[in-house]
Amino acid sequence: MPTLFRLDSSIRTEGSVSREIADTAERGWLAEHPDGVVVRRDIGQQPVPLESLPAAFTANFVAADQRTPEQVRAVELAGILAQELLDADAYLFAVPLYNFGVPANLKAWLDLVITSSALAPGTPPALAGRPAVLVIARGGGYGEGTPRYGWDHSTPWLERILSDVFQLDLKTVATELTLADVNPAMADLRDLAAQLRAQAHETATEHAKHIAAA
Ligand SMILES: Cc1cc2nc3c(=O)[nH]c(=O)nc-3n(C[C@H](O)[C@H](O)[C@H](O)COP(=O)(O)O)c2cc1C
Repeated sequence: MPTLFRLDSSIRTEGSVSREIADTAERGWLAEHPDGVVVRRDIGQQPVPLESLPAAFTANFVAADQRTPEQVRAVELAGILAQELLDADAYLFAVPLYNFGVPANLKAWLDLVITSSALAPGTPPALAGRPAVLVIARGGGYGEGTPRYGWDHSTPWLERILSDVFQLDLKTVATELTLADVNPAMADLRDLAAQLRAQAHETATEHAKHIAAA
């Protein structure tokens, strides 16, 4: 059965733009695969425990029967997270920009999943060539010529990990100025924000066909 793995990382559920655009991509994928399964990992609502990181990392240098109970639990969790990726045919990652970078919960998830022997850098790329969509939501504006051009350190990092480390066949859809609706100082940008969001939904629908074609 075709399987889509979806990762959400916004800390909010109400009004989340990254979730809204990912919903469009998910609907597009399901339209092509009505019998498909969507496996969800919502690290915005349920972050991975940070304390598992040192245990998972150090466990790789200890024989399995010599591991502490913390290391055993951390390796188990990393294995579960990795297996969700390994078992999928297509991927959808929904990520907001937080303080010019990725959400802490997403970094923690990645740091943990990558300790798994199946996905560690340097191992044969188990996910290579599989199709993926990355949805990005930014509150401000980062286009060329704006004062914050180049300040989005999240998108290039995510593309490095997903495209180059995991070797996924990645398409990105980004929208920005999402804070225009709530920030009075950005009131003049509301029409533009709405236009960008509508475009992002269209692009997400196109990208859904890309991940559904696999
Ligand atoms: C903790 C936090 C930090 C944020 N930092 C930034 C930022 O550095 N730049 C920016 O443009 N927007 C920033 N925002 C706004 C979000 O990027 C924006 O609201 C986005 O739409 C969030 O995704 P969501 O709608 O899926 O929740 C921040 C929001 C939060 C909650």
